[in-house]
Amino acid sequence: MPDTANRPPSILLIDDDAEVRYSLSRVLTSRGYQVAEAASGEQGVAAIRKGPPPDLVFLDVRMTGMGGIEALQHIRSAQPKQLVVLMTAFGTAQTAIEAMKYGAFDYIMKPFDPAKVLALAEKALKTHADLRAVGDYKPTINADDYREGIVGSSPVMQEVFKIIGQVTASDVTVMITGESGTGKELIARSIWKHSHRAAKPFIAVNCAAIPENLIESELFGHEKGSFTGATGQRLGKFELCDGGTIFLDEIGDMALATQTKILRVLQQGEIQRVGGTETIKVDVRILAATNKDLEAMVKAKTFREDLYYRLNVVRIKMPPLRERAEDIPQIVDFCVQNLVKQRKSRVSKVSPEAMALLTRHPWPGNVRELENAIYRSAVIAQGDAILVKDLPAELGGSAVAEPEATASPKLTLEQAFDHIHAALAAGDEPLLPRVQRELAQRTMVALAGDEAAAARKLGLTKAALQKLLG
Ligand SMILES: Nc1ncnc2c1ncn2[C@@H]1O[C@H](COP(=O)(O)OP(=O)(O)OP(=O)(O)O)[C@@H](O)[C@H]1O
Ligand SMILES: [Mg+2]
Repeated sequence: MPDTANRPPSILLIDDDAEVRYSLSRVLTSRGYQVAEAASGEQGVAAIRKGPPPDLVFLDVRMTGMGGIEALQHIRSAQPKQLVVLMTAFGTAQTAIEAMKYGAFDYIMKPFDPAKVLALAEKALKTHADLRAVGDYKPTINADDYREGIVGSSPVMQEVFKIIGQVTASDVTVMITGESGTGKELIARSIWKHSHRAAKPFIAVNCAAIPENLIESELFGHEKGSFTGATGQRLGKFELCDGGTIFLDEIGDMALATQTKILRVLQQGEIQRVGGTETIKVDVRILAATNKDLEAMVKAKTFREDLYYRLNVVRIKMPPLRERAEDIPQIVDFCVQNLVKQRKSRVSKVSPEAMALLTRHPWPGNVRELENAIYRSAVIAQGDAILVKDLPAELGGSAVAEPEATASPKLTLEQAFDHIHAALAAGDEPLLPRVQRELAQRTMVALAGDEAAAARKLGLTKAALQKLLG
């Protein structure tokens, strides 16, 4: 049992139904927990205010007088970290939602299955202990130092930052390539922000998202009546962006016909609106990005070679996150600190075990996937730290698995003894005979009731074994 080295964990039951208190109390004391009872919401809240606060509270929702949801709010304001499990016989969406909103650890339905109650108590107390074990936390970075929004001290990212610095002075076209979620748009915005065009617009055009028949009108605008639906004159992105920077995202998804027109802008610095005859001078810097293999597309003649050379003047290759794992803790801390700043979550720390799993994961969706995993875990987390159990299941988190399933196979012998000792220490019975009896019983079960084999395994005579088994 976690949490307490010397004393058994304490549990307070708040329920106005004496029978429920009696049966729940029996289940919990049988496992060695120290149980106290309160017969109303008011009594329960008073007991917690008076202190010392119990390790865990089971709180009924429907009680005469102060109800459970109200009691929960009083309890949490007196003891913000108090672990509370709400219980009810009448499950409604509203109470379940309110219970979790006001910070209950969990919400269970009556009648109880004793095994589930015990599993839940154990899980709650383990979470509590794990949260406390995180202790002082030193983030790897200070988010204020990263106003740029780009984090990364790995050598490959430092190279990327240097190139950004080099290309900001001129209007050179930059092609940013890399897998999805590696930060291509972030880099494009950073180039713009540091350039002399920073005061003029940055317009991102997602070439993959705009239907082929509309992209020209999007980019170059159209004259009234130039096609069905063109009810008025419209300016395109290039004209709107005059003096600024256009980011052509997913350039590999652009149709060949549009590629030709883009080439003309690049070569001559001028455009024509769809359905128009006038040639309009535009001054835009072009940045482009793709996760496609443009060289292969050029060979396959699906991407114009001349446009490729025009765009690919400077190339920034964004490395996938799995090739710069040393950046992961910083990105994680950056995300967490941003949440803190926006007051969107109680989470301000990450347990070392969770950080180790995050750092080891290959992240096929790169920074975007990591970022989403952190935000999701922060929502699920029940305290001020992200623990292993809050992580997505594919990382080895127990978002779906039962707590026993993750804890037991990895115990060292010493930890196992700690657990046994804590579990048995609560009763009055002398320890050694209890341990011997339990061990004998388990050995018998493991050896399918073969007394001779069990006696050999235990190093006892058969008679001594029989005596132990009673
Ligand atoms: N080095 C980094 N530091 C902090 N946040 C980052 C970093 N790289 C990317 N991000 C964040 O990850 C997310 C994805 O980045 P971005 O949209 O720039 O990727 P992308 O390469 O354009 O992806 P896609 O190819 O899917 O469009 C964004 O929320 C961005 O802020
Ligand atoms: Mg992008």
